[in-house]
Amino acid sequence: MEQGRFITLEGGEGTGKSTLARGLAEALRVKGREVALTREPGGAPGADAIRALLVSGDANRWSAMEEALLFAAARLNHLNHTIRPALARGAWVICDRYYDSTRAYQVAAGGLALSDLLALNALIGAPPPDLTIVLDLDPTLGLARSRGHEIEEDRFEKKDIAFHQKVRDEFRAIARNEPQRCALIDASEGAPDVLRLALARVEALS
Ligand code: TMP
Repeated sequence: MEQGRFITLEGGEGTGKSTLARGLAEALRVKGREVALTREPGGAPGADAIRALLVSGDANRWSAMEEALLFAAARLNHLNHTIRPALARGAWVICDRYYDSTRAYQVAAGGLALSDLLALNALIGAPPPDLTIVLDLDPTLGLARSRGHEIEEDRFEKKDIAFHQKVRDEFRAIARNEPQRCALIDASEGAPDVLRLALARVEALS
């Protein structure tokens, strides 16, 4: 059985990742592929329990290091219970956020040392994605889109605009520095255009 493909979607708040994830999953299923649509933090029962700790409550509830450790625990649980089994049976995994989110939120915006994140990634054996789609949008627009949607899950949305600007800048830098792995897409385009551009990169993985 051929190993599947590991595709991650990244970007700030309100950039349209979940709409894109559903569109990509649908397009791949039409082509007859098995798709595992999943997200972080979460994607497995243990990781979902950790998600509740991370995305709710006071904005300053956790330090960047504390968050990174919780995200890493959730990620390992997700890899073991969902991602690795799906890839092994040949499924194409579409994962809404992965370790680039830790780099943008906890390292660039939160002040965690990059070497600490790299050490955590090595510790949990986090595999690199085959493709990462980065959705780019002015955070003022993104936050206006996302605020009020999931009231119980707004812990990061409550952080100030300077935090979200650093997140955006880091995602752009990641995409610029790793053009082989990453596709940077302007999320101010309509959802159909974003899907078309993303699909072109996904189909190149076949
Ligand atoms: P979501 O709103 O896309 O479901 O993601 C939940 C929040 O978690 C979002 O505000 C970004 C944040 N996050 C991090 O700060 N670091 C990470 O590693 C991940 C996966 C998410």
